Amino acid sequence: MKTISLTVNGKAVTAAVEPRTHLADFLREGQLLTGTHLGCEHGVCGACTLLIDGSPARSCITYAVACDGAEITTIEGLDEDATMRRLRDAFSREHGLQCGYCTPGMLITARDIVTRLPDADDRRVRFELSGNLCRCTGYVGIVRAVRRVIEERQKNGSAARPEAGTTPGTSLGPVGSGHARTMPANGPIKRQMATATTTAPAAEPTRSPSGQAKPGMEIRQSFTVNHPPDRVWAFFDQIDQVAACMPGASLTTPPRDDHVAGKIRIKLGPISADFAGDADIERDAANKRGVIRGGGLDTRSRSSARGEIRYALFEEKGGTATRVEVDVGFTLTGPLAQFSRSGIVNDLASRLTAAFAQNLRVRMDRAAGGSPAEPEPSTEQTAELNAGALVLSVLWARIKSLFGALFRR
Ligand code: FES
Ligand code: FES
Repeated sequence: MKTISLTVNGKAVTAAVEPRTHLADFLREGQLLTGTHLGCEHGVCGACTLLIDGSPARSCITYAVACDGAEITTIEGLDEDATMRRLRDAFSREHGLQCGYCTPGMLITARDIVTRLPDADDRRVRFELSGNLCRCTGYVGIVRAVRRVIEERQKNGSAARPEAGTTPGTSLGPVGSGHARTMPANGPIKRQMATATTTAPAAEPTRSPSGQAKPGMEIRQSFTVNHPPDRVWAFFDQIDQVAACMPGASLTTPPRDDHVAGKIRIKLGPISADFAGDADIERDAANKRGVIRGGGLDTRSRSSARGEIRYALFEEKGGTATRVEVDVGFTLTGPLAQFSRSGIVNDLASRLTAAFAQNLRVRMDRAAGGSPAEPEPSTEQTAELNAGALVLSVLWARIKSLFGALFRR
């Protein structure tokens, strides 16, 4: 247990907390402030958004102990806030809520938008709200409500006045480790955010055989192609062809033998990320194996990925087919790090591998002069990696198997 002292909605609070307790649990269970909702507890949905030292933050991924000395404002603390009152009215008027589960987090983000971006248009409001998910409304009413309040503030001149009791943040992102008043402008939080873009976490305890920091997530997949190993190996030599098999991937410069630069577009609901990066390739032709090591960065979400893909080809069906075994190890940092959690990632990886294998088989069948045994992937399927659709199909498959198991009893 660690004793922390902080200010919650203007009141001094001192409490002993377990280091593992996140701020949302601390507030909901310790302080009985249940207006902060919990949805995903992975930093994705935004339901738990509140203000730490005036900046919006996900309380489900912020440890309470990291908020020692900080000033926390929850939705309850904004009851009498003039801007929040206007936002509440606008949300009711414009039908910006249905079940209301996302609404506390949505209102906190909305308040940040109207105070920080007094000229935000629809597009900007949508972009700023992209970290808050709503299952009910379709967002149209929410965006309209935020825009109404921006317009009201422009008309009555309050857009130019700073909001009482808040320090509008200059960027979204992790806050709460240390707190703003004692932190120099270029202090640890900002430095950490700048370096997180290109490097793996500093203190990794173990190393992989290649000497790289041990990745946060490791996945093993395999698939079979009905072509002999020599032909598959030759196909793997054509980096542009291989990249074209990966949904969402494209090359940004012509590939060299041992180096490749490209990007991959991933979509998860309203979030889309363009990871741009490069990788080095090592190939062992004698043993038909290779390693691709590299990293990428999505500047918009400030998420970065580093990883290593090892692949090996094995002869099957008397040399007429090839089994491709792939080991992927990667570490994601930043807001999109929720991708590297839970068993769903493994399901996701197997569907992704299946999509890659299907594209590979179609291209190889075509290159060999035959007509592909499988349907050609559509442009939509290859233009971006729709992780949201894949996650939904994974969840749907899991729900079906759960019902199947229940009815078999
Ligand atoms: Fe915190 Fe979803 S509960 S982001
Ligand atoms: Fe139901 Fe947003 S109103 S989740």
